[in-house]
Amino acid sequence: MREGSHVIVLPFPGQGHITPLSQFCKRLASKGLKPTLILVSDKPTPPYKTEKDSITVFPISNGFQEGEDPLQDLDDYMDRVETSIKKRLPELIQDMKLSGNSPKALVYDSTMPWLLDVAHAHGLSGAAFFTQPWLVSVIYYHVLKGSFSVPSTKYAHSTLASFPSLPMLNANDLPSFLCESSSYPNILRIVVEQLSNIDRVDIVLCNTFDKLEEKLMKWVKSMWPVLNIGPTLPSMYLDKRLSEDKNYGFSLFTAKSTECIEWLNSKQPSSVVYVSFGSLVILNEGQMMELATGLRQSGCFFLWVVRETETGKIPKNYVDEIGEKGLIVSWSPQLEVLAHESVGCFLTHCGWNSTLEGLSLGVPMIGMPHWTDQPTNAKFMEDVWKVGVRVKAEGDGFVRREEIVRCVGEVMEGEKGKEIRKNAEKWKVLAREAVSEGGSSDKSIDEFVSMVC
Ligand code: UDX
Repeated sequence: MREGSHVIVLPFPGQGHITPLSQFCKRLASKGLKPTLILVSDKPTPPYKTEKDSITVFPISNGFQEGEDPLQDLDDYMDRVETSIKKRLPELIQDMKLSGNSPKALVYDSTMPWLLDVAHAHGLSGAAFFTQPWLVSVIYYHVLKGSFSVPSTKYAHSTLASFPSLPMLNANDLPSFLCESSSYPNILRIVVEQLSNIDRVDIVLCNTFDKLEEKLMKWVKSMWPVLNIGPTLPSMYLDKRLSEDKNYGFSLFTAKSTECIEWLNSKQPSSVVYVSFGSLVILNEGQMMELATGLRQSGCFFLWVVRETETGKIPKNYVDEIGEKGLIVSWSPQLEVLAHESVGCFLTHCGWNSTLEGLSLGVPMIGMPHWTDQPTNAKFMEDVWKVGVRVKAEGDGFVRREEIVRCVGEVMEGEKGKEIRKNAEKWKVLAREAVSEGGSSDKSIDEFVSMVC
């Protein structure tokens, strides 16, 4: 029955979403399902097969013509993506049915909740996939239900917010859009609406694992049919054994893995600070200067990812000044880097994928959150899982060079660093257990497979 059963998987078009959903596809394929991964793209290519033909990748248009800039207006972007999917997906499902390959379920990114009705209209089960942890989704749910109202300006914020089963959160710990409703009203609407029809969803998948959010799980699982299936990292990284296969998913970016790895190979164990702010965060010039100077003054080796669009903000002569102490690259093979024994600490924006990757590979972290879920992830990273420290910003929001130096020293050398490393080791083991055969996430994937077959 299970053999060859077909499911459609549809991520939101962004690196932080495509990576976990494509990794989930691989897990499903390893359990005998035949997933079709639909990728919304500005330049759709013809469909192709991957993973020894077990996964079909089906690129479709994002609704923009060549030459149009999709990043101009988020509402317009969301509308066009929705229109394009609503036109193309039913045609694809119809074709699949006609060719005797009827899909059983649609696994869709939770940021596109309207896909539930599309699934049901075609007789498919609808499985919402949350790429962010429960600790933020639950907060968004309280906003949806009106039990937490978002102040219109951050000055109107009360000092502490309390949510059932969560630690007390101050304004700096909340998802950024919840501090000020006027800051990004359209993104606030999208993150809250993810939960709008969750009561009707057939299966709710989340890239987390039971033990990581233990306190929340009782309530969450009493509310919805939840299956935590993460971390969606390829198991070869969890085992710290790097296979020849350097293809970690359907990355939008190609990284020259050799440059970073060769540089890391020449360093002592745990001597390097790896610095990355993910695929979206933009730091202003002043903040880049503070960070650059702080890294140099820390005296540690550092590998710093600065995306091509950001390189103009690196201080003049900086590369010459740092010499052998630092390597700056425009993109890194992050999992391979985090799994490398020379990396002693990860300075991260605390995007959920990066947080989960650092935690699962046992790398102590320095959280420097910027916006969206990152402050809340950073709060848990520091205070609940205790696997790192979080930088303290000044009143003007800037993180000064001295603070970077302090945090690097604390994690790499300080007494606190020892405790952090012990905890990081503990969470690494728990993450690996969750996805190993018989672990909580592995069993959840089995349950998903039997539910859809
Ligand atoms: C976005 C949001 O910013 C984040 O808050 C949310 O939780 C997910 O969506 P992004 O900023 O890209 O994501 O961060 P993150 O979730 O950490 O994802 C980045 C991914 O890119 C990770 O899987 C990371 O391994 C990968 N990456 C990053 C690389 O492979 N190489 C790099 O150099 C940097």
